[in-house]
Amino acid sequence: MKFSLVACLLGATTLATAVSHELEKAPVDRLGKRCTGTIASLKDVAAAVKCQTVNIKSFTVDAGKTFELDLADGAVVNLQGDITFGSKSWEGPLMLIQGKDVTFNGGGHKLDGQGAKLWDGYGSNSGGVTKPKFFKVKMSGVMDNFTLLNQPVQGFSVSNPAKLVIIIVDVRAGAAKGHNTDGFDLSSAKDLTITHATVYNQDDCVAINDGDGITIENSTCIGGHGISIGSIRANKVVRNVVIQNNKVIDNDNGLRIKTYDNQPGASVSNVRYTGNVVTNAKKAGVIIQQDYTNEGATGKTTVGVPISGVHFTGTNSVSVASGAKRVYILCAKGSCSDFDFAGLKTSGGSAGSITNVSVKNYSL
Ligand SMILES: *[C@@H]1O[C@H](CO)[C@@H](O)[C@H](O)[C@H]1NC(C)=O
Ligand SMILES: *[C@@H]1O[C@H](CO)[C@@H](O)[C@H](O)[C@H]1NC(C)=O
Ligand SMILES: *[C@@H]1O[C@H](CO)[C@@H](O)[C@H](O)[C@H]1NC(C)=O
Repeated sequence: MKFSLVACLLGATTLATAVSHELEKAPVDRLGKRCTGTIASLKDVAAAVKCQTVNIKSFTVDAGKTFELDLADGAVVNLQGDITFGSKSWEGPLMLIQGKDVTFNGGGHKLDGQGAKLWDGYGSNSGGVTKPKFFKVKMSGVMDNFTLLNQPVQGFSVSNPAKLVIIIVDVRAGAAKGHNTDGFDLSSAKDLTITHATVYNQDDCVAINDGDGITIENSTCIGGHGISIGSIRANKVVRNVVIQNNKVIDNDNGLRIKTYDNQPGASVSNVRYTGNVVTNAKKAGVIIQQDYTNEGATGKTTVGVPISGVHFTGTNSVSVASGAKRVYILCAKGSCSDFDFAGLKTSGGSAGSITNVSVKNYSL
């Protein structure tokens, strides 16, 4: 009660500020007014997003509501406190941001999705209660320096319309009962760089589902399922991906490409791995499979999604746990090409297997 009263008072001040600037003429439609909007509750959002600068104070977002920022072009958003999202079983997202050339300064603060209240060990694709996705990012620009905490299921869903850099962002879902708590899911991403992210979770650290021109670099993945391209289904195209200088620690898999069988219109091309260090991968160090399904791999491929140009350059060091495979590749005949693993050093576990593709500069 006390908290929401404070939030209301802050909100009223903000509204007044925003309204007093109402008379300034914006030169271009989507350009914000030259004012500073302050958000301390969802009620403040509509007025604040008209401004070029938006400051966000600490507050709690009502359960079952999306904190949606539909920003003016070139807006600068400053997170000035931690945001907590009320817990409820629903689809989400808890937060959505869109706009062109936006700067989102996280200021080292936290967005807490309170996932622990919903984690039941089932995640999103195998039953259990419906859990909200956390943060849909549809902006271009730069986003930095904050922590996405306790995502109920998937953390970031990024589909940026133009160049976006995400830097120094932590994603932490910390419990055994968290499931499908992906760090970053990328779909129709373009010209996207993720740098210095740290992800502690129970599913893919990064999953690249669809996109062109994606760099994942200098990031750390702990405890999840590794850095993945896929899972790829019909009409999803992933190309021009660079995965470099990342550390993948204690994940099920290290570096992975997973595609479903027989998916028209889909492809993966030009993927480069360089300078990555994978340690203690529990299932496989490097895994490229065309027989993926959510329920598990089938071991069979008939028509594979074409995967062309997978290059390990520089030095990638991949070590796996005993019982894990160093390299596991299962392609349909003729659907994998131009694999060159010159820059891959592997150790631990067992060698694994390579099916239906010839890999240059690497032998099991
Ligand atoms: C994040 O923001 C905080 C608050 O402004 C600042 O002290 C800290 O240095 C920033 N961290 C990075 C890595 O930029
Ligand atoms: C990433 O890490 C590499 C190797 O440690 C380093 O040379 C490079 O400067 C780093 N890049 C960024 C953007 O921090
Ligand atoms: C390899 O390709 C052949 C021909 O398409 C196919 O019959 C076989 O099942 C493939 N191997 C696996 C393990 O999928």
